[in-house]
Amino acid sequence: MYVRNAWYVAGWASEFGDALKRVTVLEEHLVMYRVDADTVVALEDRCPHRLMPLSQGKRIGNDIQCGYHGMTFNCEGTCVRVPGQDNVPSSAYVTKYPVRQKNNIVFVWMGESDKADEALIFDMPEFNAPTYHVHQGDALHLQANYLNVAENLVDPAHVSFVHPTTLGNAASENVPVHVDTQGEVLVAWRWIRDSEPVGFFQKFGGFSGNVDRWHYYYLHLPSIAVIDFGSAAVEQQLAEEEREQGVRIFALHFLTPVNKHYTIDRWMHIRNAALNDEQASEQMDAMFRIAFDEDKAILEAIEQQEQLPQKRKPIRLAIDKGPTVYRRRIRDLAELEATEDLGEPVRPTFVHHE
Ligand code: FES
Ligand SMILES: [Fe+2]
Repeated sequence: MYVRNAWYVAGWASEFGDALKRVTVLEEHLVMYRVDADTVVALEDRCPHRLMPLSQGKRIGNDIQCGYHGMTFNCEGTCVRVPGQDNVPSSAYVTKYPVRQKNNIVFVWMGESDKADEALIFDMPEFNAPTYHVHQGDALHLQANYLNVAENLVDPAHVSFVHPTTLGNAASENVPVHVDTQGEVLVAWRWIRDSEPVGFFQKFGGFSGNVDRWHYYYLHLPSIAVIDFGSAAVEQQLAEEEREQGVRIFALHFLTPVNKHYTIDRWMHIRNAALNDEQASEQMDAMFRIAFDEDKAILEAIEQQEQLPQKRKPIRLAIDKGPTVYRRRIRDLAELEATEDLGEPVRPTFVHHE
């Protein structure tokens, strides 16, 4: 179940250079390459002649020459040369995908190109705020369906059990999770008041006594998650809207559904502490790696389990509000796209929470 009319992350800007690179998104193979500092091109990675992947061809200027019989395509996907004949058949083209680079991240639009609206590209003001430090992390490759991965990113309840040394501890086990929708964004959150700081904030917050700790999981449909988490000394009596005054970290996850059983999670963070301290960035990366490997182990194990015949349906618990709302909204969006394809525009029925 894929939502096609959306900007998906094809990679960090640094992943694209002069070389032709195959990128797979929603089971479609793209050939991508950089034409200038701000512009990356994405074309269908399939020659219309004998289906040779163009990513195995040769770049000539900004054109690609197919590695089999030399048909050549420009960066609009138009065929500009057919060796052995003068006329270019009208079906000799490859599809071009809209691409934008923003905040050093390359986004590709996988739906109908006339619906590609730049205003829909994910952004947040902290990318350019002087009080924050932006650090690109790494890519986690998961043998798991993106819905399960996204579900994990709108599920604060697993943190106490899966990440006991970094992001969670026992104090949060029984704290209820709230869920709401803010426009197109789903948010699940909870505060754990007056408890021991978790490993992450013992290391980076410099807290000696108890803290108030928060986790806000924002899911920008279909597959971008922002986890706003942080801590403040109990004496600060921090209100929900004053999180800025605590030690605050945004962990960003850009999920790229490669196929039904494979998802790439590119992760990074933006923080209001240890500004311009690259050693702190690396130490945080090391802690995130521990936590995300813990998620990977869980998600790959349940993916395996899902492949088996199921005798009973999985049960849903009170803590599952975020994941439940998420899946319904994805289903609604996917159904909406399918019905639009049939020429029957239907309004989605969103807001299922509470
Ligand atoms: S397969 Fe590309 S030119 Fe023949
Ligand atoms: Fe997790």
